[in-house]
Amino acid sequence: MQSKLITAALLGVLASGAALAAGPAAKDSADLAAFKASFRDKNEATVDRLEQTEAQRLCSQDAQRPLKPAQRKQIEQQATAAVRYPADGNYLGDWKEGEKVAQNGRGLQSSDPKGTAAGGNCYACHQMDKKEIAFGNIGPSLQQYGKLRGGPTPEILKYTWAKIYNSHAFQACSVMPRFGAAGILTEKQMQDVMALLLAPESPVNQ
Ligand code: HEC
Repeated sequence: MQSKLITAALLGVLASGAALAAGPAAKDSADLAAFKASFRDKNEATVDRLEQTEAQRLCSQDAQRPLKPAQRKQIEQQATAAVRYPADGNYLGDWKEGEKVAQNGRGLQSSDPKGTAAGGNCYACHQMDKKEIAFGNIGPSLQQYGKLRGGPTPEILKYTWAKIYNSHAFQACSVMPRFGAAGILTEKQMQDVMALLLAPESPVNQ
């Protein structure tokens, strides 16, 4: 089993070498074929996640051959057009539940049994509640997010929801996960995280 997987991966690498001679696009698809050949489904991590959306394909390419401004604009426009706003018109849930979502880094991994609810893992990249000292800084600090933006006005509610739903809406090829578009968080979890960021009584705004 193990050696079969290694063989498949090696064949993929060889194919990718041959494809390099055939041009960059052929190399991209050969690289993807190598990935596909060397992974298998395990628990919550399923191989269908290797199927890229058009935006993901372009963003993968961006690292080698930078996209044109018009291509970036198109990714942003398509992401914005596909945002689904809360069905009940309610943007703000329970900040205490939102804090749990922000702290939770589990879900969608091969070590997660099927059906494990995914978290947002926001602290991995953002500072939020100032009492939490373990946070990453890949993203900007979100300390006092609601307060600094003048509270939960209709514009800020809409912007923040869309940013969390699909970060590409405002920055093509953002590294922030597309929590709504990729089905990582439920609408309820997103409402709770929104309250963590925007409710005046949330620890983020103290
Ligand atoms: C892998 C890292 C990563 C994770 C995880 C992540 N973010 Fe981000 N986030 C970023 C980066 C990088 C930016 C800035 C670039 C951009 O705008 O895309 C950002 C920007 C933002 C912004 C816009 C800030 C502003 O000043 O307008 C908000 C709001 C935000 N993130 C909320 C969240 C929430 C809520 C979560 C968890 C549900 C989260 N992020 C998880 C990386 C991350």
